Amino acid sequence: MAAPTSDADWSRVRLHVVTGKGGTGKSTVAASLALGLASQGQQVLLCEVEGRQGIARMFDVDPLPYAERRIATGLRHNGTPPGVVHALHIDPESALLEYLSMYYKLGRAGRALDRFGVIEFATTIAPGVRDVLLTGKVFEAVRRNSRNKGAISYDAVVLDAPPTGRITRFLNVNDELAGLAKVGPIRSQADTVMTLFRSPRTVVHLVTVLEEMPVQETADGIAELTRAGLPVGAVIVNLVRPRDISPADLEAARDGTLDASRVATDLEEAGVDVADGLVDGLLAEAHDHAERRALEDAQRAVVAQLGRPTYELPRLAGGVDLGGLYELAADLKKQGLA
Ligand SMILES: Nc1ncnc2c1ncn2[C@@H]1O[C@H](COP(=O)(O)OP(=O)(O)OP(=O)(O)O)[C@@H](O)[C@H]1O
Ligand SMILES: [Mg+2]
Repeated sequence: MAAPTSDADWSRVRLHVVTGKGGTGKSTVAASLALGLASQGQQVLLCEVEGRQGIARMFDVDPLPYAERRIATGLRHNGTPPGVVHALHIDPESALLEYLSMYYKLGRAGRALDRFGVIEFATTIAPGVRDVLLTGKVFEAVRRNSRNKGAISYDAVVLDAPPTGRITRFLNVNDELAGLAKVGPIRSQADTVMTLFRSPRTVVHLVTVLEEMPVQETADGIAELTRAGLPVGAVIVNLVRPRDISPADLEAARDGTLDASRVATDLEEAGVDVADGLVDGLLAEAHDHAERRALEDAQRAVVAQLGRPTYELPRLAGGVDLGGLYELAADLKKQGLA
């Protein structure tokens, strides 16, 4: 399969935001991208903000705390020492406590607020506050550098982000905040966050599968992000079926004109005992596969029209384990995304 490649240059990007319709593979792609970047020697932070511990599950480790944990090493490439992937599970309550203790030195007082339910009030009653805290922590990790003593500084941060339907609002929450606070520290913090998110150092990648609804959602997402002035990155087409059958055979399978007796003879020659109904069953499966492939090809053409650099990842038989993540990482690297 000639995977679509692109000569886009992502080397200046510091924050890779990975969104997409639910279940299309955002978390898988974010993790693979982080591993791919680490395989180039970069120090990478992989963040999640949805409170689901997906990273821990994918890397088969205990649930992540609110602390950066070394989680994997990139593959060695051309003799360069690989970088490390750290992971961080960002939850709004911990982010708020950290924020309070940093800015107001409210170490113990912060915990008292927690006891009185103030933290819960701030993070559940006011959903906007939640997103300000989550994006604020991501911002802090990206902006960090060697002057921040004791903290690890990263070459790249990969965010396993909320789905397409919520991503623009999520990334734009600081814009709303800036609109509310006309002056002062909140206003300037909100402005700095938006400056980063709208700069070429940030990209929002969209993961899709080759089906009508997710592709449509991708198109809508690109339009919405663009309207909000947020930088759209690549489209990553995930779960692509193998393309090893010739167009002529696919067409015959679809039209029901595959030669049943030829299939039976081939099977017998391969030592298969051709029981009643076996060939009919296989032809029906071939028909379904060919139909799905035709739908996929139609959606692939729609994706090409989106005008974004596009990358494809195969559907791994048997799902994605840690080895699978490295496999997908190598694929992204080969295609030039990582
Ligand atoms: N390329 C692939 N090959 C095989 N299985 C895959 C592939 N990509 C993802 N999967 C599987 O599909 C499921 C959904 O993937 P994932 O959790 O990454 O999606 P998501 O978009 O993050 O979902 P959610 O919206 O629930 O956060 C998982 O079980 C994952 O292992
Ligand atoms: Mg996920």
